[in-house]
This record gives sequence, structure tokens and C-alpha cells, in this order.
Amino acid sequence: MALLPTVKQLLAMEPEGQDVTVRGWVRTKRETKQSVFIEINDGSCLSNIQAVVDALLVKEEAVKNTLLRVSTGASVEVHGALVPSPAKGQKAEVSVRTIELIGEAPADRYPLQKKAHSLEFLRELAHLRVRTNTFGAVARVRNAMAFAIHRFFQERGFYYVHTPIITTSDAEGAGAMFQVTTLDLEALAKSGGPVEYDKDFFGKKAYLTVSGQLNVETYCQALSRVYTFGPTFRAENSNTTRHLAEFWMIEPEVAFAGLADNIALATEFIQFLVSTALTDCAEDIAFFDQRIQPGLRESLEKVAQTPFTHMTYTDAIRELETSHAEFEFKPYWGCDLQSEHEKFITEKVVRGPVVVTDYPKEIKAFYMKQNSDGKTVAAMDVLVPRFGEIIGGSEREWRLELLEKRIEELGLAKEAYGWYLDLRRFGSTPHSGFGLGFERLLMFVTGMSNIRDVIPYPRAARQAEF
Ligand code: 4AD
Ligand code: MG
Repeated sequence: MALLPTVKQLLAMEPEGQDVTVRGWVRTKRETKQSVFIEINDGSCLSNIQAVVDALLVKEEAVKNTLLRVSTGASVEVHGALVPSPAKGQKAEVSVRTIELIGEAPADRYPLQKKAHSLEFLRELAHLRVRTNTFGAVARVRNAMAFAIHRFFQERGFYYVHTPIITTSDAEGAGAMFQVTTLDLEALAKSGGPVEYDKDFFGKKAYLTVSGQLNVETYCQALSRVYTFGPTFRAENSNTTRHLAEFWMIEPEVAFAGLADNIALATEFIQFLVSTALTDCAEDIAFFDQRIQPGLRESLEKVAQTPFTHMTYTDAIRELETSHAEFEFKPYWGCDLQSEHEKFITEKVVRGPVVVTDYPKEIKAFYMKQNSDGKTVAAMDVLVPRFGEIIGGSEREWRLELLEKRIEELGLAKEAYGWYLDLRRFGSTPHSGFGLGFERLLMFVTGMSNIRDVIPYPRAARQAEF
């Protein structure tokens, strides 16, 4: 089947009266004495195309009957001529010759009538909300960013690696994992007996992965530059606007790279993605700028052009301690940075993205390279205004003895990390990587303030509808 031009493609054409077909969903229908104007959207872009049914045609009995049932949300197919539009703000419109109603959307039942609906209300309609301007724009930007991520790495000699979803190791060593089992929990509860994991599907406890990092590190130690991009899962019970139980993460890993290389890559990556959004999604970004986050475009332009500020954790704590700001959690050296602290640093101190490095080892994962001060690790988080952490990464501890010692200190099950330790036993190299939360990136680029609104079907505590 030859695909017909989309609305986006039609709107890019020179209108010369050529024959066109438009298929899509009705956004609005407006009647004047002379004509009926139908705004049709097919999701290919934010703009609708206007279909004009003139008075002569409206008088035809069949057309009149069809038009009665053409309402907001209905799907239609129109044929006609693509002609210059006298209306302002649009170059072309369709002068209709025939109109067919494909699927009705009765006005008394269709929930998305032509008025502004709250994002909360739309969250209850996750299966229909993509038909609104906001969620259509989010979906298109999400697509563009996913594609740009692959382009960024492919153009720089990275290989895309598929890391497993089901795992028996805890990549972050911090719990918060979803267990995967085929054991009959109800029968088990009734029997009161012990759980026999050797009878479980994998013969031992298994989980959904919290990160592809450990697996991608093994490929890094052979292919040098790699990345994984896939879903990850965290059973964090935090009901916040920046946490999901299921989110997508991009994790590059580079052999022979230190912390400074890692910071440079992360910065170039974010700036590339922001620039791509500004050029490839200009219409959608203009919409977010107008309707969701005033000033968005200008702030993105600045991010794309300005080098990121760097700051050590110790300096960040000093800024917080000497700020005299009121914090719910009092900052002190050794504390985990809370989102209020991250917001303060990015919004009040730096006024833009900031790379914070060298965190205390106690608040970071076991695999991070230990600094010679004995207290901190070669970690880097990229923080941004509005919601804080967007990237977390580090140079990895590549020295076998130090890594083994850290695993023991933290009381982690060393046997489970045997294969990971092998990377340090055989041909070990310095290497570094990071994880970018894909939905956090989308919040950053679109200005949307709730992470549940940048993923089609959000999964969070007590929320797995659709
Ligand atoms: O800082 P995190 O936990 O780092 C890792 O998982 C490392 N293994 C990454 C690496 O070095 N390869 O998570 C990385 C990023 C965070 O900065 C954040 O953007 C996002 O993942 N993230 C979440 N996004 C949505 N919901 C959650 N519950 C998230 N937890 C982390
Ligand atoms: Mg983190």
C-alpha cells in the first residue's frame, strides 16, 4: 500500500489546487452561513489541516446528513483540492469535494470535548489523551529524542547493546527491586511452608533490572564504546512527580575513560539532544513554550550553548550551608542531596545545569571508583533546574582488590558478582559511564512538570491501569 501524505506533509506542500486525501480525527467543526469548517488532525504534527465544505455542497442531502454526525473526536476521510488558505496562520486548506465519516464520536459520550482539560483528568484517560495537543506533542518529542539518542551514539562509534530485563543481581546494590517469580504465592501462603527458590522458574531469586550497567560494562570491556537503552524498574515507594516504577534509561559506557571524559560526554549528549529538540521539534517546543512552561525555548537555547558549571559535592554542601535558605532537610557533609537541595543549587546558585562530582562513598553505589582521599568516589550527577537529577554516573572501580573490599564492607553477596569481578581479573581497564533517565530528559525538554505525563502509560505505586 502506498502511504498517503500526512497532514504534516500536506502543510509543507505548495497549494496549487492538487487532489488530496486527508484522513484523521476531527478537532473542531465550525459553521457559518456559507460554509462548514472542519479542523482535522492526524497526529503527524501539532497543526490541524482545515477542510472547508462550501455552501453548495452543504446543501446536498447526503453531505448534510454526514456533517450532522461529524463531531469532535470522529474520524473522517475527505477528498478535495489543496488550495491557498485565506485564513491567517495557515498556508493551505482543503476545499472539500467528498467527505466520509469513518468512526463516530458521539458528543454526549466522547470525553475529550473542545475545552481545556486538566492534566490530572487526562491521566485517567491515558488511552485517549494522546489525541490532545499536549500529549501528541509529548509523543512526538519522545520519538524524536529516542531517535536522536541512537544517532548521537552511532555517529560516535558506540555499539548498542541489549541488556537483560530479568536479572539475579542487584546492579545498584540498593534494593527496591521487583521480584520475578512463577511460584504460586497463594498456595505458598496456605501451606505456610518455606519458600523453595530452587523450585522457582530460574532456580533462584530473580528480579526486574534496576539498571543495565553491570551487563553493559562487560561489553564495554570488549567493544570499547557501548550503550544500552531500555526499560528499567524500581519498586521505590516514592510518590513524587519525578519517579516512576518503570522508566527508560540510556547508559553509555566507555573503556579507558576517566571522570573528566565522562562529564564531557554527558554534557555533549545533553546539549546535542536539546539542540535536536529545538530544530527537529520546533513546532512542538513552541507549543510547550506558550502553553506549558513560558520561557522554555529560551532556556533550552541557553543550555545548548553554555558550558555546564562544575562543582564538587563538598562545594555544593558549602553553598547550601552558607545560604541561610530554609530547607526541610538540613544539609550537612555526608547527606544525600535532597531534591530541594538540587533545586536550590541549580535554580538559585548556578541558574542552569550543574555537574556535581566526588560524592561521599557512603551515599553512592559500590562500583564507583574510590578517590585517594578515602572518603569520596569519582561520581558525577548532572542536575537541572525544576527537578534536579537527570544523570547519575561515575568512573568505575576497576582495581580488583578495592572493589572486592567495598563489596565486603557493604555486606553485598560477593558470589553474585563473580562475573563482574572477572572483568577486573582479566584485562581490566579504567572505564566510565552514566545513566540518563529518559523521562527526566523529556520533562527537561518539554517543560512538563509531572513525569507521569511524559510516558504513555505511567507505572507507579498503586498505578498500573491500562
Ligand atoms: O542515578 P541512577 O540510579 O544511576 C544508575 O542506575 C547507574 N547504573 C547509571 C550508570 O552509571 N550507568 O539512575 C540514573 C538516572 C537518574 O539520574 C534519573 O535520571 C533516572 O535514572 N532515574 C529515574 N527516572 C524515573 N524514575 C525513577 N524511579 C528513577 N530512578 C532513576
Ligand atoms: Mg542517582
